[in-house]
Amino acid sequence: MDASPKYTRTAMALHWLVAVLVFSLFGIGWYMVDLPQGPARGEYFALHKSIGLCVLVLLALRIAWRYRHRPPPLPQAVPAWQRVLAGLVHRAFYVALIVQPMSGYLSSSFSGYSTRWFGLPLPQWGWKDARLNELFTEIHVGCSIVIVVLVLTHVLGVVSHLLQGERGLLRRMLPW
Ligand code: HEM
Ligand code: HEM
Repeated sequence: MDASPKYTRTAMALHWLVAVLVFSLFGIGWYMVDLPQGPARGEYFALHKSIGLCVLVLLALRIAWRYRHRPPPLPQAVPAWQRVLAGLVHRAFYVALIVQPMSGYLSSSFSGYSTRWFGLPLPQWGWKDARLNELFTEIHVGCSIVIVVLVLTHVLGVVSHLLQGERGLLRRMLPW
């Protein structure tokens, strides 16, 4: 039996929900940009924007929850440099996962197309401006690369502990 302290169930639910949504956003995002102009491209873009905005709301909830609930301490076997790296990666995740949907929303706002959340019209934060659209698209794509690096570092960290036979780290984020 593992009696080490765990994240709260709410933190776990938010973590795994955001992870699934972020992975699906990468799948849809990489797929949709290569589609030819047409209804399918428009539908995938609309779905991507709607799911992306869900991540923004979930991140806001997650940060509010995190502020009031400190994470459980890491297992003692985790060396100091890994603690520092994990802390940096977690912080960078929170920043990147706010910048990513905001830059998407801004690029969409300057594209001349309306932004909708599952069909519901949302306020435009800009006007049709090709240069600003391009700028926010570049930030969106650049930030997506940062997120890929963060996910790889994060998952590699967890997997390296599993390979050493330490399950305590992963169990903190699993309800069972
Ligand atoms: C955490 C949330 C999000 C993630 C992880 C994400 C990820 C991605 C990825 C991986 C791409 C493909 C980039 C490439 O060309 O390599 C993309 C493109 C795009 N995303 Fe997002 N996205 C998110 C949220 C949003 C939101 C909220 C919006 C708008 C409301 C949005 C609008 C767009 C648009 C318009 C493109 C196409 C950019 C282009 O023309 O190249 N995204 N996104
Ligand atoms: C896009 C995907 C993911 C994101 C954005 C993400 C983000 C995060 C963040 C921000 C934390 C720290 C929570 C806090 O203390 O505030 C965390 C913890 C954790 N994540 Fe993820 N995660 C992702 C995917 C994964 C995957 C695929 C795994 C499984 C291998 C995983 C396993 C864990 C574990 C075990 C912890 C707790 C241990 C630790 O403190 O590092 N995560 N994650």
